[in-house]
Amino acid sequence: MEPLQFLKEKDADISVLSGKCVAVLGYGNQGRAQAQNLRDSGVHTIVGGRPGRSAELARQEGFEVLSVADAVKQADIIHILLPDERQGEIYRAEIAPNLEAGKTLCVSHGFAFVFGEIVAPGGVDAIMVSPKGPGADVRSHYLAGSGLAGLIAVKQDASGKARDTALALACANGFTRTGVLEVTMEQETHGDLFGEQNVLCGGLVDLVRCAYEVLTEEGYPPEIAYFECYHEVKLLADLMHYRGIAATNAAISNTAEWGEYVNGPYIIDADVKERMRESLRNIRSGKFAELWLKEAEKGLPTLLAKRAQCAAHPIEEVGARIRQLFVKPNP
Ligand SMILES: NC(=O)c1ccc[n+]([C@@H]2O[C@H](COP(=O)([O-])OP(=O)(O)OC[C@H]3O[C@@H](n4cnc5c(N)ncnc54)[C@H](OP(=O)(O)O)[C@@H]3O)[C@@H](O)[C@H]2O)c1
Repeated sequence: MEPLQFLKEKDADISVLSGKCVAVLGYGNQGRAQAQNLRDSGVHTIVGGRPGRSAELARQEGFEVLSVADAVKQADIIHILLPDERQGEIYRAEIAPNLEAGKTLCVSHGFAFVFGEIVAPGGVDAIMVSPKGPGADVRSHYLAGSGLAGLIAVKQDASGKARDTALALACANGFTRTGVLEVTMEQETHGDLFGEQNVLCGGLVDLVRCAYEVLTEEGYPPEIAYFECYHEVKLLADLMHYRGIAATNAAISNTAEWGEYVNGPYIIDADVKERMRESLRNIRSGKFAELWLKEAEKGLPTLLAKRAQCAAHPIEEVGARIRQLFVKPNP
């Protein structure tokens, strides 16, 4: 496979957005950060939302806030930064009836398009502009004069200019300062879900908690278990992030490195890899999305129960005590 090329500032033309109105729907993690970045880049930006905490915050932070329906009517580009599991129903009830040919639908994660929750009508562009990181970083990197890396995708190019719009939005968010890759919505969505289910969230969290439980159940103090199996994850992740795995191994002791080579493949063995493939199959077939959307339809009973169970785990108590010792650079 040919390596993907990073698109930079020179590849984007932000003037494509001149005279256009962007409605950011939702003012949560991504909505707040991206709406502020777009506005600071000179793009006419309004916010669409429902009455409540985040709409009030958007108003306090100087945005014109309209209902979703009115924002869709007023805007040329509708950037949907609502929860993935709600996008389909909000699209059907409030966005689609107010959509006209010539407008652009944009998302930061392709879930709703890839799993058929949103089908853009003919005459409407459908694009994705996705930052590779959380909202707080989208904003702080922009303010620091850099930017997160990003992905863009074009699902439907009715105008012949969908790619230009996506690149301009990525530029206005600061993503082209670092680099943007052009992918398909399927690649982004499958990859994003796979990464969060197998490594970043599911995967890492279960690995840490399982190791903590083994040490404490075998009589070791919770503080030791926390430092050895949780606290140091960040230190190692930072090394991997900035140096790569091989150079990280040069920065740890020979004993730690030897332990990695002999025990790592025994813990993360061929069966784990096979279950990862199964997870990918469930994502690609739509099985995961179907179960998740059913859970959302029922009001998230399992998610809320698991959330409570997670908060009650003993690792939270020792963690809260230990984290107080450290200055927190991030919320
Ligand atoms: N978070 C990330 O790190 C990240 C990274 C990349 C991409 N994304 C993508 O960005 C999108 C948004 O995610 P997020 O994490 O920013 O979501 P979020 O923090 O949960 O924010 C969702 C926003 O949608 C609003 N909302 C919910 N239901 C609504 C309704 N029925 N009508 C109008 N507004 C409604 C919420 O308002 P209320 O305050 O009233 O609930 C809130 O402002 C998703 O597609 C996600 O996959 C997120």
